Amino acid sequence: MAKKYSSLLLFLLLLLDSLPNFNASPEYSRPPPRPAIFAGPTRSKSEPEQVHISLVGKDHMRVTWITSHKHETSIVEYGTSPGNYDKSSMTGERMSYRYFFYNSGEIHHITIGSLGPNKTYYYRCGGNGPEFSFKTPPSTFPIEFAIVGDLGQTEWTASTLEHIGSKDYDVLLLPGDLSYADTQQPLWDSFGRLVEPYASKRPWMVTHGNHEIETFPIIYRHGFRAYNSRWLMPYQQSGSTSNLYYSFDVAGCHVIMLGSYVDFDAQSDQYTWLQGDLAKVDRGVTPWIFVLVHVPWYNTNLAHKGEGESMRKSMEELLYNARVDVVFAGHVHAYERFTRVYDNKADQCGPIYMTIGDGGNREGLAMIFENPSPSISMFREASFGHGRLKVYNETHAHWSWHRNNEANNTFMADELWLKSFASSKSCLPHHEKFQEMKDEL
Ligand SMILES: *[C@@H]1O[C@H](CO)[C@@H](O)[C@H](O)[C@H]1NC(C)=O
Ligand SMILES: *[C@@H]1O[C@H](CO)[C@@H](O)[C@H](O)[C@H]1NC(C)=O
Ligand SMILES: *[C@@H]1O[C@H](CO)[C@@H](O)[C@H](O)[C@H]1NC(C)=O
Ligand SMILES: [Fe+2]
Repeated sequence: MAKKYSSLLLFLLLLLDSLPNFNASPEYSRPPPRPAIFAGPTRSKSEPEQVHISLVGKDHMRVTWITSHKHETSIVEYGTSPGNYDKSSMTGERMSYRYFFYNSGEIHHITIGSLGPNKTYYYRCGGNGPEFSFKTPPSTFPIEFAIVGDLGQTEWTASTLEHIGSKDYDVLLLPGDLSYADTQQPLWDSFGRLVEPYASKRPWMVTHGNHEIETFPIIYRHGFRAYNSRWLMPYQQSGSTSNLYYSFDVAGCHVIMLGSYVDFDAQSDQYTWLQGDLAKVDRGVTPWIFVLVHVPWYNTNLAHKGEGESMRKSMEELLYNARVDVVFAGHVHAYERFTRVYDNKADQCGPIYMTIGDGGNREGLAMIFENPSPSISMFREASFGHGRLKVYNETHAHWSWHRNNEANNTFMADELWLKSFASSKSCLPHHEKFQEMKDEL
């Protein structure tokens, strides 16, 4: 009996596998899942670990690390040559949190600067332990972003990180779902150790996904305890009152991080903040606007279909009127690129939508796409990988998608040249400052 069922199952799997629409390129065989990784401590208890950095304002960097002991000093010493720390900072905050029987280590957030653009700094945390280094992003074009969501911590994650790290970039953008700890707090520590070699070298700018929520009835009703403590982002600098949504400027790009799991209706703080934030963008200073959000507003994968619909209905018009250039989402474990869209129709003045939730999490890939493919979906494929957005100047940017199972990241499985709305004649942003600027020309 059992044998009969298993052969039936095998038959169904083979049948599913032979359907043509699972994958955009038929010659390509889809990789199987890979096991989870747990990264244990490698340093002595007095040394800093889980070091990562993030941008704060235009010339400062926040350095975050964790120590097991409460009494370790919150100091970052830094300089422009190895071992030679002519500057130091103790500006910032430290925190720790409890989650049931788990007590986090001491989480240090120290801001350093001002720093020069496009420059390498060497640094040490807490007055001891290993030396790290990072490069600041440039203050002008060109700038290159690495973009990937739903990272998790499996051997596929390790492969994604390796691909990302093997070619230079300036800033990593992550549209949600980091550790997949899902309330197992030691997995947040493991994630911090896994990403340290990358996140200590280049700023990681993240927004949250469903795997960051970690609410528990009555006790932890508001959730995000681990996320908000460990991945503090520069929300105050953008006038946001929540670490769950914010924006920042880097080298001519205005990047907006939205929150799929905080209120987004027209009466919400997030909505009001977004409206104000978009109104402040000066296209003369930041010609490009990119938005990241966890749950995609456009998605032809059967996984999570329609989940982003209420947020889309609430906020899409704001992004459209502001002439946002691209919206990146995660959540769906696949890659998908749309054409310019507004209100479900191709629209030359709408943003391009991308799903880049293919970082390597333990849940595996989202294999099944809607069939036939709607005409607004230009490319879709269920494979692990990451994206790169190189912004060359105020008018041109290049997007590319890199699969993990290519030998290296020089191969582009998908690519596209983008032209900015700031340089467009037919789709000017509905924006006073921008209009004034154009009038002066
Ligand atoms: C940043 O530095 C690199 C190498 O030092 C250089 O090739 C690049 O042009 C610089 N970028 C900018 C925007 O200045
Ligand atoms: C912007 O960069 C693109 C791609 O490198 C190039 O073709 C174009 O001429 C540049 N435009 C300006 C104004 O520099
Ligand atoms: C990347 O892989 C291709 C094909 O395997 C190879 O020809 C190329 O030299 C590799 N490039 C790098 C930088 O390793
Ligand atoms: Fe998700």
